Amino acid sequence: MYCTRSITKEIVWVGASDRRLALFENLFPIPRGVSYNSYVITDEKTALIDTVDASVSRQFLENLLHTLCGRPLDYLIVNHMEPDHCACIGELMLRFPDMKLVGNSKTFPMIAKFFGEVPDELKILVKENDTLSLGTHTLRFFTAPMVHWPEVMVTYDEKEQMLFSADAFGSFGALNGCLFDDEICFEKDWLDDARRYYANIVGKFGIPVQNALKKLSSLPIKTICPLHGPVWRGDLSPILTKYDLWSRYEPEERAVALFYGSMYGSTENAVNILAVKLAEEGIHNIAVYDVSATHISTLISEIFRCSHLVFAAPTYNGGIYPAMRNLLDDMAALGLKNRTAAVIENGSWAPSCGRQLSEELNALKDFRILDPVVTIHSSVGADSEHALSALAEQLTASIKGVSVHPSAELIR
Ligand code: FEO
Repeated sequence: MYCTRSITKEIVWVGASDRRLALFENLFPIPRGVSYNSYVITDEKTALIDTVDASVSRQFLENLLHTLCGRPLDYLIVNHMEPDHCACIGELMLRFPDMKLVGNSKTFPMIAKFFGEVPDELKILVKENDTLSLGTHTLRFFTAPMVHWPEVMVTYDEKEQMLFSADAFGSFGALNGCLFDDEICFEKDWLDDARRYYANIVGKFGIPVQNALKKLSSLPIKTICPLHGPVWRGDLSPILTKYDLWSRYEPEERAVALFYGSMYGSTENAVNILAVKLAEEGIHNIAVYDVSATHISTLISEIFRCSHLVFAAPTYNGGIYPAMRNLLDDMAALGLKNRTAAVIENGSWAPSCGRQLSEELNALKDFRILDPVVTIHSSVGADSEHALSALAEQLTASIKGVSVHPSAELIR
């Protein structure tokens, strides 16, 4: 049975949610599932904006066929070729042999690699700012390269002032019947998943996201229809503000996240002591994570949220504890920038990972590393307890003085 939602009289959501998939991209846990959004416009011509992942193709096809009500599908707009959105292209080409595929110069070579060459007569090649009339709806196309793949474009419906934004403004999380932002509590129920989605999927591409935001800023936009998560209508500012912050690598909150690796509990003890000292100094926006026990996608997401970071690890094989090493590698791969960080090292005979940690963090753009590294010799003693007190004072001064985006001040 079909399961759709109308956005307007002529635009219908025909996507579906997957609550069975454990790992998105076979990497990222999605305990709340994920939605794959797809949209049909029924005008004098019919158009579908992107398809869905293969896992929900059966529901999607029922939704699509019901919405078309026996009409053929005239156009498939291909905004993004990642398989979580393009998986049904081959099936649609079989079901609608006259369907035209709309894409840009980078889209069709990707379609050829996934599905084989599209006959020329079925291709509509669009460039920046090109339009396609469906009758009363005119679609305008804008490229958005690397948000999140090179072929990505977004489609703007001029009649409805509606932006079909591809991965941009998306979120992890299955839809629970509520499709629109005004039917959900974004801050309470969706923000963490939206951030974790952005940080891990699109986080590397801050500059392309900024370019896209600038390009689209002159458009009157009433509704944003992403490929994952809620549709935004009415007040778009919550998601636009977050995307602007995240893509500029600005912290959302005046907050400190403490990340530790700990083999037998001593490094964890040092971090707990530091957290208590921070709380006693009046810093209450504190998060503590065991990097061995917390999925790296959550750690990365927290780095996007917090202004201050503490990295604490034992020396391991003369280097950085592997779980912490993994986090640093991911931070570098995602091009994380612009945070204040402190380092705690531990070692029983030759503590040395602090210098290495500091060097790795210093190599990240606009990272400010607080001096000195706190050294723990096996377990926290009087000298290292004193050093932790000094670090708490230093962090407190920095946190209280840090400048964050004005909207972030409202959060805490
Ligand atoms: Fe949801 Fe880049 O695909």
